[in-house]
Amino acid sequence: KEAHAAEMERSFIAIKPDGVQRGLIAEIISRFERKGFKLVAIKIVIPSKDFAQKHYHDLKERPFFNGLCDFLSSGPVVAMVWEGEGVIKYGRKLIGATDPQKSEPGTIRGDLAVGVGRNIIHGSDGPETAKDEINLWFKPEELTNYSSNAEKWIY
Ligand code: TYD
Repeated sequence: KEAHAAEMERSFIAIKPDGVQRGLIAEIISRFERKGFKLVAIKIVIPSKDFAQKHYHDLKERPFFNGLCDFLSSGPVVAMVWEGEGVIKYGRKLIGATDPQKSEPGTIRGDLAVGVGRNIIHGSDGPETAKDEINLWFKPEELTNYSSNAEKWIY
């Protein structure tokens, strides 16, 4: 059971400064928690611009890169690691399409955001980026390993 928990898939999820400023922390955490995913790390940080550029390095050629990094470093971000079967792919589903105008109702961005530059949440888009982003934002000792009594009712 412990070994199983240690192998469970993990994703990096962050509430961006607009989500924090709008008071949506509990709402967003609640959606992941109610689904059955497990929160294994959380902290609130104001990233430097340099750090934001590291986080979004894949997008450095895009025209919105500079504004995006200014935005991510403009205030507090809630950085989290969520664990569970399929959490990377299904987490993206909970979040919704990048442009909130195209996100389905029922998704976080579809229900709670309007503009692509203020889409309130980030989620890793694959296993490799999940690993890289967790390593960028968290030290190994900040990641917890615990079994929850709820899990036998989920899996
Ligand atoms: P991206 O990684 O493509 O989307 P996602 O966050 O859904 O994984 O882009 C990162 C962020 O960049 C996105 O959340 C919002 C911002 N962005 C813009 O501001 N304009 C754009 O045209 C795009 C594609 C993204």
